[in-house]
Amino acid sequence: MRFEDYKPTGRIKNKHMLTLMDYSSEEIFELLHCAVELKRKQYARERHDYLAGKTLAMIFEKSSTRTRISFEQGIRQLGGYPMFLSSRDIQLGRGEPIRDTVRVMERMNIDEIMIRTFKQSDLEELAEYGHIPVINGLTDDFHPCQVLADLLTVYEEFGTFTGKKLVFFGEGFNMANSLMLGCAKVGMDVTICSPAGLGPKQKIVDAARAAALGGAKVVVTDDINEAISGANAVYTDVFFSMGQEKDPAKEAALMPMQVNAEMMAKAAPDAIFLHCLPAHRGEEVTDEVMEGAQSRIFPEAENRLHAQKAVMYMLMKDN
Ligand code: CP
Repeated sequence: MRFEDYKPTGRIKNKHMLTLMDYSSEEIFELLHCAVELKRKQYARERHDYLAGKTLAMIFEKSSTRTRISFEQGIRQLGGYPMFLSSRDIQLGRGEPIRDTVRVMERMNIDEIMIRTFKQSDLEELAEYGHIPVINGLTDDFHPCQVLADLLTVYEEFGTFTGKKLVFFGEGFNMANSLMLGCAKVGMDVTICSPAGLGPKQKIVDAARAAALGGAKVVVTDDINEAISGANAVYTDVFFSMGQEKDPAKEAALMPMQVNAEMMAKAAPDAIFLHCLPAHRGEEVTDEVMEGAQSRIFPEAENRLHAQKAVMYMLMKDN
């Protein structure tokens, strides 16, 4: 089964978007098809206010530019209302349990919740105690909405996932985890290249391998030359994610994996560069690559809007 041959049904079984671990290849295809269609409608200025009158609450326990803007703009374009809730301002930030917060929210007719938090278990608690769809806007373990936007960007570039390879350079943290799952499930080869001791958890590698579509390869290595060879999409992320302490030893281990012009020259001739942003130029990537002809970082950022509109719509509509 290839994405370009898949006939969408307009339905998914999932109620929440906590991790791509819970999503089948078909369900990811449904979301991507919906994102393509919503993007087309947006560009054609066709009406698509399918969530008129609905309210999306957005809880942020960490800073954000792209996630906040794309969810806020996305729900407005779908006809609904965004409610921005910083944990600095609501009682959650002063220790009110998440299970109480969600039950209050549903009493006040909130229709859907997006949360950016630290622990995946907090997200799971939110989903367990409420009856409202919950969307992961990033945890320490996963960033599924970012990866849906990344996959949309890869598809727009190559017209297929089949026979393509994405390489991620960096620590086996939230981005590596979600990229492994997302790429494997759409049938694209994925390599995570991390320094020894900084690789992804084996449980997630095993889950990605078990769910890989059409024999897609999931490789974890610390061999930079093996990793970059044949890569069609080259991806990296900051050395230190939000909430992580700076560590000179970790920085020294990651520096040889910097995506620079020399690294890009070793990838496939048609390779594109992706980054979830924000980036630290001169650390994980050079300014030359960020601004270069192979960079797709801004179409990728835009695709957060279209991918998340698909998520909000498909989870909130009556499946
Ligand atoms: N990529 C991403 O999630 O960006 P923000 O942290 O700005 O939301």
